[in-house]
Amino acid sequence: MENITKRFGKVVANNAINMELREGEILSLLGENGSGKTTLMNMLSGIYFPDEGQIYIHDQPVTIASPKDAFALGIGMIHQHFKLVDLFTATENIILGLEGKLDLANARKKVQDICDKYGFDIDPDMKIYDMSVSQKQTVEIVKVLYRGADILILDEPTAVLTPQETDKLFTVMRNMKADGKSLIIITHKLHEVLDVSDRVAVLRKGEYVGDVATKDADQQSLTDMMVGHTVSLNISRPEPKDVEKRLVIEGLTAYDELGVKRLDDVSFTINAGEVLGIAGVAGSGQRELLESIAGLYPVASGHVTFYPPDGGKEKELVGLDPMKIRKSGISMSFVPEDRLGMGLVGSMGMTGNMMLRSWRKGKGLFLDRKDPEALANRIWEELGVVTPSTSFPVRRMSGGNVQKVLVGREIAQSPAVLMTAYAVRGLDINTSYTIYNLLTAQKMKASPSSMSAKTSTCCLSCVTASSFSAAVRSPAWSTPERPTNARSAH
Ligand SMILES: Nc1ncnc2c1ncn2[C@@H]1O[C@H](COP(=O)(O)OP(=O)(O)OP(=O)(O)O)[C@@H](O)[C@H]1O
Ligand SMILES: [Mg+2]
Repeated sequence: MENITKRFGKVVANNAINMELREGEILSLLGENGSGKTTLMNMLSGIYFPDEGQIYIHDQPVTIASPKDAFALGIGMIHQHFKLVDLFTATENIILGLEGKLDLANARKKVQDICDKYGFDIDPDMKIYDMSVSQKQTVEIVKVLYRGADILILDEPTAVLTPQETDKLFTVMRNMKADGKSLIIITHKLHEVLDVSDRVAVLRKGEYVGDVATKDADQQSLTDMMVGHTVSLNISRPEPKDVEKRLVIEGLTAYDELGVKRLDDVSFTINAGEVLGIAGVAGSGQRELLESIAGLYPVASGHVTFYPPDGGKEKELVGLDPMKIRKSGISMSFVPEDRLGMGLVGSMGMTGNMMLRSWRKGKGLFLDRKDPEALANRIWEELGVVTPSTSFPVRRMSGGNVQKVLVGREIAQSPAVLMTAYAVRGLDINTSYTIYNLLTAQKMKASPSSMSAKTSTCCLSCVTASSFSAAVRSPAWSTPERPTNARSAH
């Protein structure tokens, strides 16, 4: 890519980028949220057309005006949001949109051959709706290989995977590389960058900062390159002292609409002043657990008892409606795979989205602000949200920035119990640490010596990787049954 520039109105998403991808290498594209990674890759896959600059493939100038052009040149991109038809099988999805005579048996065999060759583990006849997130992703990858891609671009493929699924993906990526393919991977997880790539290219605020051989890089050097100055990768994590219980879960059991058991006799206590991490393979009931506590999921049996910070009488939450539970001071910030699906309205700006929540008074990082505009501005500043204005539609913000808005808003309410699911999914490392520190600050408010003990918070946090590991203690509960057709419950 030579001198590639892309603007959206006043935003310069990519400014005169010069970048090269070599044959048979895995290149990591690294940069903070909103630095222009997805935009740059979208110009290779024919979704956007550059305002300036030239793309070359094997030294030949090329024009990529549509995804079809990209495919013809052997470029395939796996987007964060899958584009699969639920009712179709893997094979049907893979050949969807291809021209020429349809020969399903032949296609099926070709799909199986690709799977065998690179080590993919999917059934060509399985319907998409029966698949886990990782299987759907596999279908997307096989789809571009089927079309003969030599250059594969994966935009944050591991954000929705468990560590085991990530390992599997990396094995397949190495197999593709050994076969002479070139791969670009976007990921915010630096240990993955160091693990899988040969070279790392870094973007900062739309500019190409440079590239390094992975063997010469480490987490700190990459972070410094990304941010432009040295940042500290430490979370101060004081031990909770003399804590009091805040939420007691006893024998929580829940079934989904098909009668499948999703929570099986779950019991644990979460204290004020602590962060309880919940680890588990995707689809093990994390979502159902948090939603049950928040009153959004029907509970078959069991108790959720809330002990208010003001020392008032304990309260049974099971059976209360979600509004009442929220008013008790229990907040849930759920960061779904589809960030805009839950909690945010894509067409509205930050300010509009702030208004979706009612305000509680209190002291907190953002809480001296009463009106939504001021809060939006505060989050914009504190979390470094990359957006031209607080009225810019959140749908057009970069993925990670949408997330900052979502999490920032929940923290701003200074709840007594803050539940976050995948709070740092898709966030760059710098922002992840900002969020970790915000959660820790919430937790600290509960310390008995703190003046604001009344707003004492505990956090219940779902994590996929153990990046917040020291905060995790293991709750005693039994493993829910996982039905074979479990759809991932991130
Ligand atoms: N369709 C669009 N309209 C307006 N602005 C856009 C559009 N797409 C991207 N942008 C802006 O371009 C910039 C770069 O966005 P991009 O999505 O490429 O970032 P990114 O590096 O992929 O971030 P993340 O890590 O959060 O996914 C952002 O400021 C974003 O708001
Ligand atoms: Mg992106």
